[in-house]
Amino acid sequence: MHHMRILAIETSCDETAISIVETEGNPPSVAFRVLADNTLTQIDIHKAYGGVFPMLAKREHARTLVPLLVKTLTDAGMLRKTSRHVIESPLRKEFEDILEREPELFGQFIDVIPEIDTPPIDAIAVTQGPGLEPALWVGINFAKALAMIWKKPVIPVNHMEGHLLAPLLKKTEHGTAVAHDAFPAIGLLVSGGHTELVLMDDWRSYKVIGATRDDAVGEAFDKVARVLGLPYPGGPEIARIAQDGHSGVYTLPRPMLHSPDYDFSFAGLKTAVLYLARDLGTLTETQKADLALAFEEAAVDVLVAKTLRAVEEYQAHSVIVGGGVSANTRLRETLRQALRERSSDVELAIPERTLSTDNALMIAIAAYFTSPTDDFANLRARGNWKLG
Ligand code: KG4
Ligand code: ZN
Repeated sequence: MHHMRILAIETSCDETAISIVETEGNPPSVAFRVLADNTLTQIDIHKAYGGVFPMLAKREHARTLVPLLVKTLTDAGMLRKTSRHVIESPLRKEFEDILEREPELFGQFIDVIPEIDTPPIDAIAVTQGPGLEPALWVGINFAKALAMIWKKPVIPVNHMEGHLLAPLLKKTEHGTAVAHDAFPAIGLLVSGGHTELVLMDDWRSYKVIGATRDDAVGEAFDKVARVLGLPYPGGPEIARIAQDGHSGVYTLPRPMLHSPDYDFSFAGLKTAVLYLARDLGTLTETQKADLALAFEEAAVDVLVAKTLRAVEEYQAHSVIVGGGVSANTRLRETLRQALRERSSDVELAIPERTLSTDNALMIAIAAYFTSPTDDFANLRARGNWKLG
């Protein structure tokens, strides 16, 4: 049977990630053998700014991609030195043009890549969007340069499709597989930049039925964390201190809970926390914990209620939760409980925590379901790329 090997690159935000997978089979069950999977987080760099600083993110991606690729090829047993290449002009100039905005990356590329053998891969996948455009461009240009030197096709991947498919990766007897047949599925995508409900009727069929009108839920977690004096990223911090909180001490709004659509709004909830905190003055640890819990409960309530309503309306057979906020224990447990209380069976797919936040394995998975571009030279970052 035909194996396909994909090398995937992710640089849409503050994680630089590269993975290599070998896939086999067809939906509803595709075997995924992970040959290598590496993620470098920039969290410590962005912490000082209380959020992701795009130009810093870009610089870090450019600085770390080549060493990360070398490590990933080594992990996969694919790193072989060759004496074959010396890149001279005019070819050198072509790579210089592709990487013209990333001189440091070009320098590393031209020093290292020509000296290694073309690895036994079939395609190079790269996140095309959505995300921070300066950050996306670094990965895209790197993928273009690799595709040119290795003569491989490029598969442009939607980052949110990665978040939506990652939860379907499951352990099997023989390793891991992306397996699912419970369609229609309702996808709840919750990350730092997105809050969306997606109707997935079948493989590759996506329709966004609702989205946030202002802040993403992860963004709200991050902003509330800042109000409470907690470091970036705020999601895990809020969840941690909320464990010591007392329920019912503070009352917060549940924005758009009863609106007839599937849209969300989290800006007002964040502002409500800000005003409460101001009124309280200097916060004690107990007050912080109680506020964190009140916020987490309000956010989770809205997410779960709207997801359940979508399940009813579309008669969904499964719910798929993806994106960084899917790591949140209260969200996972509340959703599990709510689905259990329904009479009919609805499957719940939630990623392992390492697959919740940004990674390149999910990009490889989505790439398997995506066609290569026939014109990678003209591939552009799509910061606001919508699914479907
Ligand atoms: O998917 P992701 O890694 O990056 C984006 O594509 O945005 O999501 C990052 C977001 C951040 O806002 C972070 O605070 C949030 O996910 N997050 C969490 C948790 N872990 C990460 N939010 C709530 N609870 C968590 N345990
Ligand atoms: Zn993400």
